[in-house]
Amino acid sequence: MLNTIRQIVLCANKRHVLEQIRCASQALPQLSAEKYNVKRKAFATVQSTDVDYFKSILGNERVLTDDNDVTPFNIDWIKNCRGQSKVVLKPKTTKEVSQILSYCNQRKLAVCPQGGNTGLVGGSVPVFDEIVVNLMLMNSIVTLDEISGALICEAGCILETLDNHVRERNLIMPLDLGAKGTCQVGGNVSTNAGGLRLLRYGNLHGSILGLEAVKADGTIIDCLKTLKKDNTGYHLKHLFIGSEGTLGMVTKVAIHCPVLPKAVTVGFFGVKSFDNILKLYKSAKSSLGEILSAFEMADHDAISITVKNLNLPNPISEYPFYVLVETHGSDEGHDGEKLTRFLSKEMESGLILDGTVTSEPGKMQTIWNLRESIAGAGLVQGYVFKYDVSIPQKHYYDLVPKLKERMGDKATVVCGYGHVGDGNIHINVSVPEYTREVVSLLEPYVFEQVAALQGSISAEHGVGFRKPHYIHYSKDESALRLMRDLKTLMDPNGILNPYKVLPEVD
Ligand code: FAD
Ligand code: MLT
Ligand code: ZN
Repeated sequence: MLNTIRQIVLCANKRHVLEQIRCASQALPQLSAEKYNVKRKAFATVQSTDVDYFKSILGNERVLTDDNDVTPFNIDWIKNCRGQSKVVLKPKTTKEVSQILSYCNQRKLAVCPQGGNTGLVGGSVPVFDEIVVNLMLMNSIVTLDEISGALICEAGCILETLDNHVRERNLIMPLDLGAKGTCQVGGNVSTNAGGLRLLRYGNLHGSILGLEAVKADGTIIDCLKTLKKDNTGYHLKHLFIGSEGTLGMVTKVAIHCPVLPKAVTVGFFGVKSFDNILKLYKSAKSSLGEILSAFEMADHDAISITVKNLNLPNPISEYPFYVLVETHGSDEGHDGEKLTRFLSKEMESGLILDGTVTSEPGKMQTIWNLRESIAGAGLVQGYVFKYDVSIPQKHYYDLVPKLKERMGDKATVVCGYGHVGDGNIHINVSVPEYTREVVSLLEPYVFEQVAALQGSISAEHGVGFRKPHYIHYSKDESALRLMRDLKTLMDPNGILNPYKVLPEVD
């Protein structure tokens, strides 16, 4: 088991989706429908004539029906959810996606859109027998305008592949996350993924210039513009950004790529308390100004389980809290000096207890790898409840000690880490096994606490299958009604990603 999890973590960080899916299939989680007591909606069930139709448009190879082939597409990355799909389709073109959806809509067959299957809220896998439409074969780069930085590509392109491509042309992708080696840009758009440098480059509502999507009835919506400014009516692209496959399938993306920074420097610091992290953040913004590209934190337990479970090096000694600061700038000497000066100043002030600053690619990678690997490190210790919440910064860490106390010896680890600059904390609660008793201790408690602090119950991972019944903690009924109206307008038969995002109406 330990090796399996290590492999999954390594796969998501570095290798290809197929390999990750292969790894994920080595142990079977309980069926989501049973675990969460969900009732199947009245969709049609797939018949052999349906499979024949899919084969007629995709060919035999791109229609998977064998159990062994299909199983990995039914299981999510953290092995919490398991669907019961019997069919996986792998279209290569927008036209094929359109034909599939048009057919499914007429037949009232439910569909689960899938990208790299790295989602953390169960949105990317079916709950019952929804047909999985995976875009991994739609992976062509269409154009890159090196002057404006506008990249047009198909939705199935892997984020890291795109980043490597644009880096050769002195640009970078505007987002980066631990799952970059596996997640697809269409998945990133559909979840409005945040990641490690949102602080500097903003979210995808700003970076996505345009997109192409297919509606539930097969209509292709062409909003694939590359203009920075275009106020011709409603900004329809935003409907698809963050809608988690419930309003349409994203098939092409136009995205703005910022310039490759000439100088990158990373600092990793030990800090005594969370209060000191906040003081450090304020000081970093003023000392580093426009070159600050990331300000991440992790508590002692988050780093220590990652070091221990995944056998990774920690470049400094053990401290109650850690901060990772990164700069993206244009002058190596100047930027390195700025960060080193910041380190000296704050060591003198006592805000930093110890730290290291480096511009060496290998050393920077070691530090980032430690931070990015926290996501999967807890998985070796049984079951992990993952919470991804936004909380106003002054209360950012409040919930972690509260949860530690509440869970007592029922949890093996309760740790917090995340994107301080964005007010987004990830709280992982490791328990020996998933039980109803533990669930009732955590939920809705966590969401009530977040709502009381005026936070959001999902900062960046989305609502997916795991959180629709908690969405009201962050969305008013008036907004939920409009969301339902939009869903009905765009997908009247409700075939796209059912059981996800929108709560059931009593
Ligand atoms: P999937 O997981 O396949 O799908 C996610 C959702 O989008 C599903 O609802 C699916 O139905 C829908 N979808 C996928 N593709 C399409 C499409 N083309 N059209 C319509 N709907 C589609 N997330 C962050 O925001 N920030 C992080 O820092 C971060 N770090 C992570 C680190 C690790 C190690 C892991 C495993 C995950 C992390 N995630 C993070 C979560 C996840 O990687 C993101 O949500 C990512 O954007 C999902 O992309 P994907 O291609 O894997 O999509
Ligand atoms: C992260 O910031 O590491 C990711 O969002 C994944 C996680 O929550 O563990
Ligand atoms: Zn995150």
